[in-house]
Amino acid sequence: MYNKPEINYALAAEQIRALAEEEPHYVALLANASAMLWELLGGPEGSINWCGFYIMRGGRLVLGPFQGRPACIHIDLSRGVCGAAARTGETQLVPDVHAFPGHIACDEASRSEVVVPIFVSGKISAVLDIDSPEEGHFTEKDARGLELAALAIGETMEGLE
Ligand code: SME
Repeated sequence: MYNKPEINYALAAEQIRALAEEEPHYVALLANASAMLWELLGGPEGSINWCGFYIMRGGRLVLGPFQGRPACIHIDLSRGVCGAAARTGETQLVPDVHAFPGHIACDEASRSEVVVPIFVSGKISAVLDIDSPEEGHFTEKDARGLELAALAIGETMEGLE
């Protein structure tokens, strides 16, 4: 069992807004946001094993900036947890990835995950995907907190190249 840090998601959302002030490019923003969330959620200690973004391009998801092991590059909206989040516009909280029909196992270590859609000007533009090697790692509180972070990311992406 990994130590789960107490996470201040409101502060994380503030930090994400601050990140964009320095470099107004969405790749830079998402890269730093993935690194920041990775540290905040205990990636370096092993609490999570993947943290990053898939971006909507041409009706499917394409791998964006992330921390963790190399992952699949394209995800159709009909597939996986990421596809479900992008298709429905709803956060997917998955306590056991093996019980999720169509889950895509990019890293065999993943046991649970949370995927949060990111809206830019009302349209789903990306998803935030975070995986843990521990079953049931993410709580409703994490999901709501990550939605705050995703909101900040979406607002910040508005108008970025
Ligand atoms: N978890 C995803 C696949 C991407 S990897 O976990 C990085 C899914 O089933 O949608």
